[in-house]
Amino acid sequence: MGQDRMGTHETLSVGELAARSGVAVSALHFYERQGLLCSSRNAGNQRRYRRDALRRVAVIRVAQRAGIPLAAIGEALATLPDGRTPTQADWARLSRHWRADLDARIAQLTRLRDQLDGCIGCGCLSLRDCPLRNPGDVAGARGPGAPYLEP
Ligand code: FES
Repeated sequence: MGQDRMGTHETLSVGELAARSGVAVSALHFYERQGLLCSSRNAGNQRRYRRDALRRVAVIRVAQRAGIPLAAIGEALATLPDGRTPTQADWARLSRHWRADLDARIAQLTRLRDQLDGCIGCGCLSLRDCPLRNPGDVAGARGPGAPYLEP
């Protein structure tokens, strides 16, 4: 563990951050390239992370496990003042916001699963008969004929 340029915070090397967070070094570098994580350089030009990067990585991992796209995680973290690490209150706010997204995605997947149940998997992918190809009979609602061919 080292100190930053100010000498006031203990800092972690990327290897230490990886070991403590359980996240591969390559993933940490990826997060950094995506702007989710930031580091400073020590006198030897090595990356140094503040200790609170551990919490930031934990937030990223939990959000990823919940299926939140990395871009959305990045946008959420960018709303924090000075790019600081999320506090408990921040996490409560972010997770409330993501919960709505998750609910919508669960509803969408449930509909898809139900349509899959209705599809006999025969391979026809018929616009008329297959509930996966034509959910809710959208084609039928357009009226008789060949709705995808006729303007
Ligand atoms: S593939 Fe034939 S009903 Fe879905």
